[in-house]
Amino acid sequence: ASTAATSVSISGDIGSQLHGGYFHPLARSWQAERQLTKSMLIYPIFVTDGEDDMIHVPSLPGQYQVSIDRLTAFLEPLVHKGLRSVMLFGVPQKPGSKDILGSSADDPEGPVIQAIQLILRRFPQLFICADVCLCEYTSHGHCGILRDDSSLNNQMSVDRISDVALAYAKAGAHCVAPSDMNDGRIRAIKLKLIEEGIAHKTLLMSYSAKFSGCLYGPFRDAAGSAPSFGDRRCYQLPPGGRGLARRAIIRDMNEGADIIMVKPAGQYLDVISDAKELGKDLPIAAYQVSGEYSMIHAAAKAGVFDLKTMAFESTESILRAGATIVISYFTPNFLDWLDN
Ligand code: PBG
Ligand code: ZN
Repeated sequence: ASTAATSVSISGDIGSQLHGGYFHPLARSWQAERQLTKSMLIYPIFVTDGEDDMIHVPSLPGQYQVSIDRLTAFLEPLVHKGLRSVMLFGVPQKPGSKDILGSSADDPEGPVIQAIQLILRRFPQLFICADVCLCEYTSHGHCGILRDDSSLNNQMSVDRISDVALAYAKAGAHCVAPSDMNDGRIRAIKLKLIEEGIAHKTLLMSYSAKFSGCLYGPFRDAAGSAPSFGDRRCYQLPPGGRGLARRAIIRDMNEGADIIMVKPAGQYLDVISDAKELGKDLPIAAYQVSGEYSMIHAAAKAGVFDLKTMAFESTESILRAGATIVISYFTPNFLDWLDN
């Protein structure tokens, strides 16, 4: 028997012996093409037009709606821990702040422009991304301007969205990220940035492959942006539409996007991988959305797995698929965890 064991190891295929490559924690980390670092993370935050707001969102555990007067105190500890970038979402709550045109989206006194200006003053090292959409500001909660038959009027929506993007960029946002999914908005925004003479200092990140589905629910609670009727299936992509996503990615690259984003992330790793392949020459971002985050929290609470382990595993999958930027509600946790 002992001679048989020896002959197996000699005559066996040497290439079948893999354990030696990952017996040590450091060697295990070398197996990944990309390792999660703090600079890859963008933290989504919800900014209200209220006073003294620090309102926990029950469906999005550990996340808050924060008013401008509380924003500095909210961000300060995170910046100290190494936060590099935020994605701003406006949460207008004042009566009359919503109408059919989403007029308050670029209100200079509104939460997003106020937040941009405050962050520029208080945290000049922070990279500011502003989500650009109308759904937080329209009375009907859709991501554009509607026709009488309640379908999106693409041209009017693109005109308006590109004005809003320009206003955020002029207010000082380093990055504008349209999430509305109207056709042609990347080109329209890029042209206005060029015309205004700020295209060279504004990064345009496209939510190119943004799928419709059930994973945005907690976000819509946090942002107050649920549609009052219907759904978003005629502008966000159908979950099975891999080819359509590839076309949207190619289109947005041709229209001048500087970064391509895929969203949600965990359920669409094949699309992240497609984006990486199609967009070899530009950074790929992935948004681990509210439903993914809350699902992980719920499962951890139910004892299915350890929260931190799953936060890392899900994020590492996103990196493995090809993303180098992750928009994540786990960002504050990672700022702690990545130190240990
Ligand atoms: C707004 C927007 C949404 C998200 C990002 N920007 C919601 C939606 O499209 O309904 C979702 C983010 C998340 O779920 O965390 N258009
Ligand atoms: Zn929207």
